[in-house]
Amino acid sequence: MTPQAPGRHYLDVWGVAKSFRGTRVMSGMNFRMDRGELVSLLGPSGCGKTTLLRIIAGLMEADEGDVVLGGRNITRLPAHRRNISVVFQNYALFPHLSVAENVAFGLRARGTAKAACAQPVEEALSLVRMDAFAGRPVSALSGGQQQRVAVARALVVQPDLLLLDEPFSALDRKLRETMQVELKALLRDRGITAIFVTHDQEEAMGVSDRIAVMNAGKIEQFADPSTLYARPATPFVMDFVGLSTRLSGRVVQDDGARSIVETGCGLLTAPGGFAPGTPVQIGVRPELISPGEGENTISARLRDVMVLGAKTVLHGEAAGSDRVMCELPGIRGGMTRGDELRLGWSVADTLIHEAAA
Ligand SMILES: Nc1ncnc2c1ncn2[C@@H]1O[C@H](COP(=O)(O)OP(=O)(O)OP(=O)(O)O)[C@@H](O)[C@H]1O
Ligand SMILES: [Mg+2]
Repeated sequence: MTPQAPGRHYLDVWGVAKSFRGTRVMSGMNFRMDRGELVSLLGPSGCGKTTLLRIIAGLMEADEGDVVLGGRNITRLPAHRRNISVVFQNYALFPHLSVAENVAFGLRARGTAKAACAQPVEEALSLVRMDAFAGRPVSALSGGQQQRVAVARALVVQPDLLLLDEPFSALDRKLRETMQVELKALLRDRGITAIFVTHDQEEAMGVSDRIAVMNAGKIEQFADPSTLYARPATPFVMDFVGLSTRLSGRVVQDDGARSIVETGCGLLTAPGGFAPGTPVQIGVRPELISPGEGENTISARLRDVMVLGAKTVLHGEAAGSDRVMCELPGIRGGMTRGDELRLGWSVADTLIHEAAA
């Protein structure tokens, strides 16, 4: 199969399928991105993120499909001839080599003379602010420092594409956040095209231009972070990217523009387009619900009040709901477990999806 529009996208993964011992883990996978984009693959464990990355890198062969990079079909090219760098989750540094030797490794493997490595290695290390550590053995570095060396090693060969497979998963939260900001700035400044694998939705939202949300070997939605959050295309995406209040119901009336949905909490109005009788799931993001009456209003019993400092999160329960959540800015007092609350929100902020059968 050939790509429909060759050369239009910088990376074009087309019709990829993969089975392991007769079990299909991926089929009909299409994935495209532009030059200079930073795209995240986001999805639960086992959904195929690493598999897709390995197929793009040439570390694994697809059963079907093509990989086109910069207008060139690289499907049959072995990994070492693709000029794609990969940063693995465990960094895969060589513990017996120094920082500089680790970074030089890719250049040396491509036949660069030792003397010619010094300058690019120094540049790559200074990019990740590790130049002062060049002579150290990597075994004498912290996790965050090793992570930077792994990034320097990936960048020194000036890859056409950089693939990062959960590069920050071993780091503590603070360091992760620092590395996210640094990596994003570095890739932007250098105009590097990169794919970043994570199962952490906040990390994906924070670093990416666009996010491909994967589930069971398929991309459920591929969009920029705000679209994913505000307009999740499927119930899976709604649940995987952010939390929300969820109510099940059934459409009783629909004029195309608006749906009237019968739920355990009474009738609610949502954006329309559903046949009457359709079982649906209603969702509302927690910061879009507030105490008081709205275009939609439900009664909920307060189960917990979590004062988190910058925000206060109310957890409640209501008839027909899986979850009721309301997030208020700042520290809010005066509410206790067991209180009956009226919670309201607008029709425009109401998410509605056909319920999975
Ligand atoms: N070499 C292999 N042999 C057999 N099955 C495999 C192999 N590699 C991956 N799989 C299976 O393929 C599916 C996708 O695996 P993959 O490693 O791509 O998931 P992932 O999204 O990267 O998950 P994680 O977040 O846990 O890293 C899983 O069901 C996994 O068990
Ligand atoms: Mg993986």
